[in-house]
Amino acid sequence: MARAHLTEDQPSEEAIAGFRAGMRPFWHPVLAGADLSDKPVAVRLLGQRLVLARMGATVQVFPDTCSHFQAQLSLGKVVTVDGKPALQCPYHGWAFGEGGRCARIPQLPEGRKIPAAADLTAYRAREAYGLIWVCLAEQATYDLPPFPEHDDPAFRKIRLNEAEEMRTSATRMIMGTLDDTHFPWVHEGILGSQDHPKPPEHEVWREGSQLVLSYETEQPPGLMTGGGAGAAPVKLRYTDYVGMPNVIRLVKDSPGGRYVIWLATCPVDWNRTRNFWIFARDYDTAPERDATYTEMAAHVRQQDKPIIESQRPWLLPPFWSKVELPIRPGDLPLIQYQKWLEKLGIVTAI
Ligand code: FES
Repeated sequence: MARAHLTEDQPSEEAIAGFRAGMRPFWHPVLAGADLSDKPVAVRLLGQRLVLARMGATVQVFPDTCSHFQAQLSLGKVVTVDGKPALQCPYHGWAFGEGGRCARIPQLPEGRKIPAAADLTAYRAREAYGLIWVCLAEQATYDLPPFPEHDDPAFRKIRLNEAEEMRTSATRMIMGTLDDTHFPWVHEGILGSQDHPKPPEHEVWREGSQLVLSYETEQPPGLMTGGGAGAAPVKLRYTDYVGMPNVIRLVKDSPGGRYVIWLATCPVDWNRTRNFWIFARDYDTAPERDATYTEMAAHVRQQDKPIIESQRPWLLPPFWSKVELPIRPGDLPLIQYQKWLEKLGIVTAI
């Protein structure tokens, strides 16, 4: 594999194909569960167009392309065939049941059996954390990472399901969320101060399918530091968990309580992501306070967006060992994340 492509503006076709293939055996969030009914919905995952629909008690996921004359199945509807739900193509009425089996071809001559070639591929789907997740491989490499605060009633949760796609790769999106050395520069006054740009020592280790890092720091008082007020910086500990390769949970523990930033990023394609955020807090939990926290979260997101979208190469930074890094302690988690991605075959060794 040539290495030069990762220093060019656009990855090579080979690198793009490698990214798409390497990401297939993982669970990817594609839609909020509340947004799916028996009305089919079109989504795109790793460059592939898919159709989702609730059919009976299950969520079915098929290629959004009919096996007959390739019309888009998401333009169709769920009907009943032989007492069971089936997704009917809008073009000639072929209908596909659970598992992608073609259940009806209206034009089929009497007595003829529906050929297996008419069936669709059915992809694996599941619901968790209020989202629909899809795996494009027969088996997922890892299960979904735990999110204990999600089901803990002590935590007040708000969601931010971004309708707008980001012009970045999922790997850059996770790296941009994992990186804390940008806090004083991009989020000054909220997450850091340029008077204190030196990163603290980070501990980094692997735990099952998760990369974990931990460090102590100080941040300006505010909504994300236990609602702290006054002028004095607040001491807190971050423990960050990256569920490889596309979920991250940042846990901030301060004297005022715990604030959690959770992101599951959908690789729409190598250069597009759709982000699903959940923010949880165990203090200041009155529902009427949610709007303030939502506004602050959206503001921080808007600060990050142009920076992350500007990063090139698209998929990952150039080979770390060939770059002089003056701020090793803060970059250590990013290096470890990148190494793991390489081991999983999501990006080529660079
Ligand atoms: Fe779908 Fe013909 S294209 S039934």
